[in-house]
Amino acid sequence: MKNQFLILGGTGKTGSRIAKRLQERGETVRLGSRSANPAFSWEDPSKWEAVLEDITHLYITYQPDLAVPGAYEAVSTLVKLAKEAGVKKIVLLSGKGETEAQRCEGIVRDSGIDYTIIQCNWFSQNWSESFLMEPVLEGHVALPMSDSKIPFVDAEDIADVAVEVFLNPKHNGNTYELTGPKGYTFKEAVATIAAATGRDIGFTPVSMEAYKEVMQQMGLPETYVWLITYLFTEVIGNPDNSIITQDIENIIGRPAKDFKQYAEELASTGVWDVPTTTL
Ligand SMILES: NC(=O)c1ccc[n+]([C@@H]2O[C@H](COP(=O)([O-])OP(=O)(O)OC[C@H]3O[C@@H](n4cnc5c(N)ncnc54)[C@H](OP(=O)(O)O)[C@@H]3O)[C@@H](O)[C@H]2O)c1
Repeated sequence: MKNQFLILGGTGKTGSRIAKRLQERGETVRLGSRSANPAFSWEDPSKWEAVLEDITHLYITYQPDLAVPGAYEAVSTLVKLAKEAGVKKIVLLSGKGETEAQRCEGIVRDSGIDYTIIQCNWFSQNWSESFLMEPVLEGHVALPMSDSKIPFVDAEDIADVAVEVFLNPKHNGNTYELTGPKGYTFKEAVATIAAATGRDIGFTPVSMEAYKEVMQQMGLPETYVWLITYLFTEVIGNPDNSIITQDIENIIGRPAKDFKQYAEELASTGVWDVPTTTL
């Protein structure tokens, strides 16, 4: 039977890169997202059976995060349907040091389906494809947990790892921890982007309470405020999370990409350029 991959979050930071690599290798890929056809929405399990039809390999990336209420039930239902549909291998994207996510990892481990779990540190691409992009463009970043060293991991490396673990059965049953090769505080990360772009980008450390208050004043949903607070305090605040692993190099045979290299490559694409105004 020919492999058929369902890549959930297939238009997102990791999923799009995994799908592209698999397609380049000639694999058949179905994207799982609300804008795909057939559509996949975590809010509508009634459509999941149809999306899983003929799928042999499943990449699970949950939205917005495996730690949120409802994730356990949703992943349980999906994995049960995947088994009924004949899925042979699952790769689950999880968070490194994210204790709340581990309950969901257990569903995959106990499923009876071959699996590999990839626990990732914070992605470098949060600065270019997610919520840290806007303050970089504005020229000023204010964040809590400013003393923590974060070994940001590059989504390109995550995708290389995901493809390798999908296609090589020696990774079945393993859980890997993916990190970059060097830790950066938020201030150092901002300085690295500033140096790469030649732009003046400021950084102000703020307390978690102050950051939370700003999110509330902006009218962000309470669940979003809870999640961001959790990710800062429980994930970034967890000292284990600054530990650097060699898993990327061990799996794909080359060193993980450093944040400085990421920043320089991204800067050269112009993604962080701001238009200069002429008077
Ligand atoms: N960012 C980090 O630093 C980090 C670190 C460790 C782990 N993680 C985990 O990574 C996961 C996110 O993965 P990612 O960053 O690759 O994805 P992402 O960039 O956040 O992409 C979002 C993708 O999910 C789809 N999507 C959004 N809402 C959806 C919904 N309700 N139902 C179905 N699909 C939905 C989007 O497509 P549509 O809009 O078309 O639906 C898109 O394809 C989360 O579980 C997060 O906890 C993130």
